[in-house]
Amino acid sequence: MVNLDREDSFVIKEVKDGILYFDGCNTLELAKQYGTPLYVLSETDIVSRFAALRTSFLEKWPGSRAAYACKAFCTPAMLALTAREGMCIDVVSGGELYTAISSRFPPERIEFNGNNKLPSELELAIQYGIGRIIIDSPQELALIEKICAARKKRVKVLYRVTPGVQADTHDYIITGKKDSKFGLPMDDDIIFPSIEAAIHSPYVDFLGVHFHVGSQLFEVRPYLEAVDTVLDLMKQTRERFGCDMTELNLGGGFGVTYTDEVRQPFDYFLAPVMEKIAAFCQREGFERPALVVEPGRSIVAEAGINLYTIGSIKDIPGVRKYLSVDGGMTDNIRHALYQAVYTGVIANKADAPAEEAVTVCGKCCESGDILMRDAKLPKAEPGDILAMFSTGAYGFSMASNYNSSPIPAVVLVKEGQSDLIVRRQSYEDLISNAIIPQRLK
Ligand code: LLP
Repeated sequence: MVNLDREDSFVIKEVKDGILYFDGCNTLELAKQYGTPLYVLSETDIVSRFAALRTSFLEKWPGSRAAYACKAFCTPAMLALTAREGMCIDVVSGGELYTAISSRFPPERIEFNGNNKLPSELELAIQYGIGRIIIDSPQELALIEKICAARKKRVKVLYRVTPGVQADTHDYIITGKKDSKFGLPMDDDIIFPSIEAAIHSPYVDFLGVHFHVGSQLFEVRPYLEAVDTVLDLMKQTRERFGCDMTELNLGGGFGVTYTDEVRQPFDYFLAPVMEKIAAFCQREGFERPALVVEPGRSIVAEAGINLYTIGSIKDIPGVRKYLSVDGGMTDNIRHALYQAVYTGVIANKADAPAEEAVTVCGKCCESGDILMRDAKLPKAEPGDILAMFSTGAYGFSMASNYNSSPIPAVVLVKEGQSDLIVRRQSYEDLISNAIIPQRLK
């Protein structure tokens, strides 16, 4: 038995007799039983990430919460697992909220983010009695007040702000800079009237502020810089309005290992942040506010692998060798969109030396339909099963039906047991909402 995981990671990928096992399951049998392409998620890995958050953060700082950002991977089974583990969730759409409601997620543990929440989405959220709404624009408060007035409800709110810090990641996944569609800029004439309106509103309880600096981050610096700006805002809010914020939310963004990045443990980020907040509160005479985090990728990315069947193989002499698989950008758009880099193995040759540089592409009519560029793999043949690693976040959740490709099935595995948690789309599913007008029949 050979362990393919890094030393600092949980042992979920193993090789036995040349075959890749994932959380105790033979990946070739998974491919046979459920078909390919296939998303496979390890329950053991997800539960271990939640446990790490619990011991390194939640238990150390009473009142703190972790709201899993379910945009990373959102299915009823995942939300049921998140609820069972005692976590909160961050939703960003009516669809995610509906998924949470359908899996009976406790309403008070749901937090709602989003830069343009629709009236219908806010209605659903307020009616279900969710725990927090993170207000993202000056107009949103008025919308919430109108719904609360009509329904005789009250909600707890925070404001999302853009602390204007620089983070070292792909430009598309930086969100905390000032030039952003998210959050309120921290200009005095924008932020203070908004806070004042929320403090005086009869329909909302204003708790504090939220920021999210970006995604796939490995440094604590941008978090600390952002915390400085929100602590200053907290002080000014007391000075101007005599109101103390009781909650700060620092979003998600904790980086994971796709290839050779060194993943930092949660307390690498959270211990210095908490120390900074505690020191500020002691100095300025504040009660320590509750800290909330919204990790998405760091909960599910490494818990996922994708399985594909290799089909056509093209060797273009002096140029490159293409391995085509039966999925592609429709099930994982991250290379096409962000030039994301992945590693993987041939699941039926998992101990063979990686002797070839190949480009793994999908089957879409699109030259950019690449999953792995210049990956090192053993010599492959049609029919081999390719396993791509660290695909659990933003793969299934960003899947599309381009080229009328059915979205693959999702299987949850745990210590040798596997359960189908999302059925593979059928061709009928693809056209189930489509209508031919009478005049074309
Ligand atoms: N909270 C807020 C308000 C966010 O905007 C995000 C991510 C998160 C939490 C979770 O961040 P995480 O812990 O997953 O980094 N599709 C991109 C990622 C977009 C992330 C957007 N916001 C990707 O595939 O890399």
